[in-house]
Amino acid sequence: MKITLIAGARPNFMKIAPIIRAIEIAQKNGQEIHFRLVHTGQHYDDKLSKVFFEELGIPEAQVNLGAGSGTQAEQTGKIMIEFEKDLIANPVDLVVVVGDVNSTMACTIVAKKLNTKVAHVEGGIRSFDMAMPEEINRIVTDSLADYFFTTSLVANENLKKTGTKDSQLFFVGNTMIDSLIANLTKIRKPTIWDEVKLQAGNYFVLTLHRPSNVDDLTKFSKLMESIDNGSGVPVIFPVHPRTRKNFSVLTNKPLNIIPVDPLSYLEFIYLIKNGKAVITDSGGVQEETTVLGIPCITLRNNTERPETVSIGTNEMIGENMDSLADAFKKVNAGNWKKGAIPELWDGRTAQRIVDILVKLKL
Ligand code: UD1
Repeated sequence: MKITLIAGARPNFMKIAPIIRAIEIAQKNGQEIHFRLVHTGQHYDDKLSKVFFEELGIPEAQVNLGAGSGTQAEQTGKIMIEFEKDLIANPVDLVVVVGDVNSTMACTIVAKKLNTKVAHVEGGIRSFDMAMPEEINRIVTDSLADYFFTTSLVANENLKKTGTKDSQLFFVGNTMIDSLIANLTKIRKPTIWDEVKLQAGNYFVLTLHRPSNVDDLTKFSKLMESIDNGSGVPVIFPVHPRTRKNFSVLTNKPLNIIPVDPLSYLEFIYLIKNGKAVITDSGGVQEETTVLGIPCITLRNNTERPETVSIGTNEMIGENMDSLADAFKKVNAGNWKKGAIPELWDGRTAQRIVDILVKLKL
């Protein structure tokens, strides 16, 4: 079986790394499974891409499509145009896409129009918030894909409601958590740790990059002010490129918030694992904090990962700054819920996926 595996943006890399490792093990065990890795180039900064390949042991991609940044349509269009050429030149039995970024949707459309089957890893999750570009990517990808590897039974139900058959659905767990578990012994202190003399359990970690939180300067300033006033301890803020400009023009410079460049995977996991809590609008970070048992304050009104709230350590704070102040009080008083780990988030998801892939009749 020949597969093309797609990766484009930062949160894709920790999802594909364990799949590649599991394919390599299957090959050593004599299975006929070959993969070609395509990097769409959606993320191109070393700090958002190259460092993840190095730390997670991902082999160099066979091709980088060089899509780069742009509007939603520009970026999606560039990826589609370049991937169509690549797939025509290198036909395969199956295209495997992960997550919900523009690369996921763009490559799915291209593959299906070339009559190539598609498997979606992390299929079926829904925020039901059509203002998120990722929700549109999820809906389009899932309406076209042939096979779905899901992180929860809620995702299975979402897919069944739109007509997906049981035979297309595989609840396997979470490959992002495979990477987390596999790398816990390798995590390392970022340089900011000694620079500002951080103490374990006595700082927050902040990540923000959703257009709805960071693109509007007035809203972003209010958010920064509320975090700065409420935290009581240092807040380490690895600033995503999207957020950089608005952070640099804030008129009220935050006192507690310490900006740093985007961290590598091993540094970031070290920071969240040893923190008091995390404040975020990321999807993956909600999952990672749940598995690490670290309180997660999510600055969104909805989540496509409801198990991180119902089972894990995540709470949705939305846009209400009073709720944020209450959340800080709760964390600082040590009263946050303890949480548990969702079913099959056990570090062996990629192996399950590859076991299923080799048996697919394509
Ligand atoms: C993308 C994904 C989002 C994911 C996030 C993780 C979509 C629609 N969004 O959002 O789901 O959570 O990645 O990071 O696919 N930029 C750089 N260097 C880079 C890449 C981007 O400086 O290597 C800057 C550019 O100014 C660009 C902006 O960041 O315009 C946004 O990048 P883009 O890939 O469009 O979306 P993200 O916000 O990164």
